[in-house]
Formats: sequence, structure tokens, C-alpha cells
Amino acid sequence: MQDEVAGADLSSRYGGRTRRVAPGPDDELVRVGPETPCGEYLRRFWHPVCLSAQLHDVPLPVRLMGEDLVAFRDGSGRVGLLHRHCVHRGASLCFGRIEARGIRCCYHGWHFDIDGTVLQAGSEPSTARIAAAVSQGAYPVAERHGLVFAYLGDPRSVPPLPVFDTEAEPGVTLRPFLLTIPCNWLQVYENAQDPAHVLWLHARNAGAHFDESNSAEQELDFVPTPLGMMNVQTRRWGGMVWTRTVECILPNLNQTGAIWEAAREAKTFQRVGLTRWVVPVDDENSLQIGWRHLSASLDPDGKDKPDAIGLGSIDFEGQDDTATFEERQRRPGDYDAQVSQRSIAVHALETLASTDRGVAMLRRLIRRGVKASAAGDAPRATSAGHVATFCQDTVTPLPHAGAEDRALLRAHGAAVARAVLETAAHTPEQRRATIAAAANALASHPTARSEETAS
Ligand code: FES
Ligand SMILES: [Fe+2]
Repeated sequence: MQDEVAGADLSSRYGGRTRRVAPGPDDELVRVGPETPCGEYLRRFWHPVCLSAQLHDVPLPVRLMGEDLVAFRDGSGRVGLLHRHCVHRGASLCFGRIEARGIRCCYHGWHFDIDGTVLQAGSEPSTARIAAAVSQGAYPVAERHGLVFAYLGDPRSVPPLPVFDTEAEPGVTLRPFLLTIPCNWLQVYENAQDPAHVLWLHARNAGAHFDESNSAEQELDFVPTPLGMMNVQTRRWGGMVWTRTVECILPNLNQTGAIWEAAREAKTFQRVGLTRWVVPVDDENSLQIGWRHLSASLDPDGKDKPDAIGLGSIDFEGQDDTATFEERQRRPGDYDAQVSQRSIAVHALETLASTDRGVAMLRRLIRRGVKASAAGDAPRATSAGHVATFCQDTVTPLPHAGAEDRALLRAHGAAVARAVLETAAHTPEQRRATIAAAANALASHPTARSEETAS
């Protein structure tokens, strides 16, 4: 039956009948369970799994990459992440009792430490014999800025949890959030390398979700970074040229600029509004989990709503299904676009075009990682210190260059992107100075002067 589609003329008019039978998803990139190629690749990295605030006096059910788990904070303040079903006879530890040390199963009282060690085997005469034979499955965890991270890979080679430079921006508060999305992780993640959707979905089709400067046509580029890739979006907004770089840090993290950026004021190397992982729950569900970055300089008009950021909500539009279906039809957001790509998007049915080259590049990079992981190659090393990242906004006053203006935008994007990449080893102040020099040099660019010369 699949041949029917493969052999069909897909450009024919009224071609519904020839497209009824769909090929399947791209299993190498979308399947995330244990022992799957992508699942094992993803398990080589730390992932945020819940909010610290979700851990209180009862255990928290967690499902992660197809594994049913339970998270809890024991009476000593330590966080555990264990297989959900008790190793004795399978009762859920979600009904367990949190102890000063570890958790005790509700059914027959087996008591486990956060590393899965059997501390007491209920009424069994010899805990020692049982503890020597079995343990409850457990994973290492760490907490930072209100997120609980877990490592589901080989416990003999746990990498350091990376610390990103954007976590230490002066004057910036990090506020954790967690959203659940009922579709495959990859289609949520690749949205970050799909900048064309910003002007259509977020600005032109149903009114501005963010500032109306997002409606301006972009000059686009997509470039590799030491951590993954970034797209370079450059727009003309009045007398300003605005270059935004949006990065994906493999395998599943992305950073985006200030949410309400309006390109009104000149600025250089303004850092991020959002650090966001897309963590698979299973093949057909995912979490968007991360930090909103809040500061007066990132939000000069006071549009942030800190109280709306947290479990199940965030302070910008279109990220969930809380509006009615008709409201969402009239004003769709990221959630509607992504979830409606099917529960698992089918790449073989897509028609990728020139503005999708970021999506194609991201898939290539992930596939390369999956294959390298399957071949046993070592994962990318993460530095013990701050990891320099590449997401930023630079807005430069540059007069319109008439017929050459698109060339000027491309030159601005290229100059900013190059300086952002080349300064990775420098201090933030050095990076800002280098990027400013590169952007401002374009004021004397032949294209920037052409209209002045003509007038
Ligand atoms: S099933 Fe957990 S102690 Fe028996
Ligand atoms: Fe979006």
C-alpha cells in the first residue's frame, strides 16, 4: 500500500485518493524509548524532568522517554528518581511513603534509598540477602534554578551538568516553567529553527503574539555553532536593523531572545528571554521545560507576567490548549501548529522548501548524533565552567539603503553572527564590544550610504 503513495503523482490536482495511505514517521529521530537509537542518544545528556516546586510531601509520577518513574524529595532534602514499579511485586511508588531517607513502598513496606538500594525489605527476615540481589532502578539527579535534572544514561560515565553563560546574567531572574505538549518531541524542538513561522504564525495570520516588528520580512541564514546550530534572522524596522540569533544546543535545548523585543532602541548582544528544553515524555508527548529570563532591560515595557510562569503555564500566547477550539482556530499559536502536525510528524509527507533549511539542518545534526551514539562515539564534551552560548539580539541604527537594503540586512546578519561565534572564548564585555564594532562598521558600508548618496 505504501507503494501507492510512493509511486503516485503528488503534484496532481484532486490528488486526495493517491495520498490516503501515509508512510510512517522517521523512526531514527522520533522514537525515544530505551534501546532505540535516538532514545539512547538522548540518554547521553542531562535533561530537566520536573520543577523543584512539584516535589513536596507526596511522590510525583514522572514519565520520561517512555519510562515510568517516580520523583520525590526525602525528609533529608535529597531528590530521588526511581523506577515507578516496585522491584518487589510492582506496586507504584507513587503511593509510597516518603521517609527521612528514601521512600517506602505502600504494599509490603520495602524501603529504598534515592540510589535504589534496598534499605529494608519489609517483613523479610534478611534485608541483606535481598539488598545484595536487587535494587530499585534509580537515576542521578541535580537541581538548579528551580528545575530538577536527571541523567538516564550509563551511570559509569555521568557527564557534568553544563552551566550556561546565560544563567549568570547580572540583574536577570530565572523563573522555571513546565508545559506538556501532546506530540512528538522533534516537531516541538525544530520549531526553534523554523524562523519563517515567526512572521506568519506570530504576526501576520492572526495579529501579533509578540511585538509587531516580528511581522517584518526576514533575511535568513543558518549556521553551525560549537554546540549545535543557530538561525540568523535580520529585519528592517524603521531606521533600525535587527539581527536575532536563535540557537539550538544539541540535542534538545534552545535559547531565544527577549520575548517582547521591539527593535526600537539600539542594543548589542542582548541575551536571552527563554532557555527551553524539549524533553520527550514518550513518542507522542513532550515537555517544554526551562527558564524564563526576567529583567527590566529585557522587558522595558513591563509586559512580563512572572506569576503566570510555572507549572502548566507561561506568560506568552499560544503555548497550550486552554482557549476554546474556535478561539484557537481564530488565533492559533505554536501549540496548535505543532500538535496539529500529527502526534508524530511524518517527514516523508512534507514538502521542505528554502525557508526550511534550518529544520533540515537540525535533523541532519541530530541524525549525526544518533548515528555517532549508536557507533559508540564519545558524546560532545561539556566544559566544567560556564558554557558560552550564541543567542542574542543586536539592533543597529542604519539608514535604509534603497534597492540595496536587503543586501545591507544580510551584511548585518553575517557580521553579527560571525562576531558572536568568534568571541565565544571572550568575556561578555569583550563580546559586546566586538559585536558592536562589527555592526556599527556597516554604517559606512557602501549599501548603507547608497540612498544618502542618491538623495
Ligand atoms: S510491591 Fe512494593 S513492597 Fe511489595
Ligand atoms: Fe513560535
